[in-house]
Amino acid sequence: MKSFGLLLAFLTLAIANPVAQYAQDQVPMGLPTQYPGYSLDLNELRFVELEGEAPVWMTELEKINLKSMGINFLDITETQELGLKAKSLRKFSFPSPNATELVEPILKTLSTKGPEENLRKFSGFRTRYYRSDTGRESQQWLLNKISEVTADNASKSLRKLISVNEFPHSWGQNSIIVRINGSSTTEDETLVISAHQDSTNMWPFLPAPGADDDGSGTVTILEAYRALIAADFRPIRSVEFHWYSAEEGGLLGSQAVAQAYEKRSANVIAMSQFDMTAWVKRGTREEVGIITDFVDPDLTKFNKDLVEKYLNIPYVETKCGYACSDHASWRKAGYPSSFTIESSFENSNKNIHSVNDRIDISDEFSFTHMLEFSKLAVAFAVELGGWTK
Ligand code: BES
Ligand code: ZN
Repeated sequence: MKSFGLLLAFLTLAIANPVAQYAQDQVPMGLPTQYPGYSLDLNELRFVELEGEAPVWMTELEKINLKSMGINFLDITETQELGLKAKSLRKFSFPSPNATELVEPILKTLSTKGPEENLRKFSGFRTRYYRSDTGRESQQWLLNKISEVTADNASKSLRKLISVNEFPHSWGQNSIIVRINGSSTTEDETLVISAHQDSTNMWPFLPAPGADDDGSGTVTILEAYRALIAADFRPIRSVEFHWYSAEEGGLLGSQAVAQAYEKRSANVIAMSQFDMTAWVKRGTREEVGIITDFVDPDLTKFNKDLVEKYLNIPYVETKCGYACSDHASWRKAGYPSSFTIESSFENSNKNIHSVNDRIDISDEFSFTHMLEFSKLAVAFAVELGGWTK
């Protein structure tokens, strides 16, 4: 029945959508399959999993068409072992937040200045598409920015606890992993705070500023990292910041990272994703959207507690209805993961995946709203990471 529905969707769009009509032919007539500045071959075969169905091989073009039809999928070509070791979901008992004296002074040092400057630059790349030259350049820019922030804000001795690394991918735009080593010598418990660095247009060869999706999350967690190291944060558990590549290609970067961590049995106790943190729809109450599907309920409850304790705005529970961002990769690997977003799913930014996902499109794009999410990331790191005396 479901595949009949899919076929129907395909046929409908074949008529309505100038791109999709070539899905069966694979090579769009008149359209080149290679574009300058991209290493995307529309005929390349990928192994793709539609929700609840067995994975199937399809071309890149067919994948793009699925997305334009609003059909959701994971590209598992390079991560077929993800979740194989995870027999059951790991469980962790999350505390009630109580480190007010450590957290609040850091929240006061958060600023919109760095995020605004960084986002203006980051959303100025023509596209951050993971298989484009500018996507590679934007990743290099981000890596340099992170190194600069580290050099400018961490003391010499804290610097020794920090590593900044690329996690290489076959497609050129690498994921970035920053680790602050915890002082605990017993278990290597690790927290992950993350965002995706790539952007896309519905048709990937068109410009994609990706200011909200997910330039906002990218600079939100960078500001949290800056404030933490400037406060000489020395966690007991290790704290990592991840900027994933290729989320828009079907969670490719985060699946590769999660698969590597699962393979070496890394003890990740919590992963918190920040994807879209800037938009406050006109006429709506400013709030934090807490996603309740495809997440760990206990970790999600912990995030709610943090919002209530440390933020100036309330939360609202909401759902994507599908595996909509990188938290889903970690969940698949068996780790507790969570996802907080700019608003309820319904009130979120409708300009994403288009040339209009820009800062100056509207006054609904808010840097002070973003700052609330930096607060959440700081509180998450300190409350769960602990502080070495
Ligand atoms: N940021 C979006 C997810 C999203 C969209 C959250 C709208 C809330 C409201 C994410 O970057 C994305 O585009 N995800 C894909 C799915 C992914 C598996 C390719 C999507 O939603 O189409
Ligand atoms: Zn997106």
